[in-house]
Amino acid sequence: MSLKKFVLPCVAITALVSSIAWAQLEPELTVKEIMNAIVTPTTSTIWGAYQLQSEEEWQEVENAALSVIGAANLLSAGGAGEGEVAMAAEPDWQSYNQQMLDAARQVLLAVAAKDEEALFNAGNDALYPPCESCHQQYQQR
Ligand code: HEC
Repeated sequence: MSLKKFVLPCVAITALVSSIAWAQLEPELTVKEIMNAIVTPTTSTIWGAYQLQSEEEWQEVENAALSVIGAANLLSAGGAGEGEVAMAAEPDWQSYNQQMLDAARQVLLAVAAKDEEALFNAGNDALYPPCESCHQQYQQR
């Protein structure tokens, strides 16, 4: 077999396999697991942040906000539970999830400015409402 005849199919097969692998990348965690393991502890850190002083305390809030962004990233594809991929494909789900992600970005800005009032406002006015809206619509399904 000539080298060309061998290499070309290999390239094609590699491309095919990697696109299949991507399409089949399935969620590992259920929505409930993501809520309990990532969203709840990290948002507690953000909502509980008060009179932050040391660099470490601000860093902790920053890491919490980054984790919320990671959770939102997972939630945009859905969870491993039954029907949770289809649920996440709905525009309302995407919208609430995006609001949570945007709120976490506001938290990051507040942290960067070391502005506790902005942090408080981002937590209450931006981060909390999408929890409520999404739960009202999807928690009981
Ligand atoms: C995009 C939708 C969505 C957003 C946004 C969302 N949640 Fe959830 N959450 C759910 C769904 C769906 C459930 C129900 C999961 C189940 O019972 O299988 C849930 C359940 C929960 C639970 C209960 C877990 C349990 O053990 O029953 C907690 C706590 C929770 N969410 C916290 C939060 C907090 C805090 C926020 C906001 C920072 C938030 N969630 C934002 C969809 C969302």
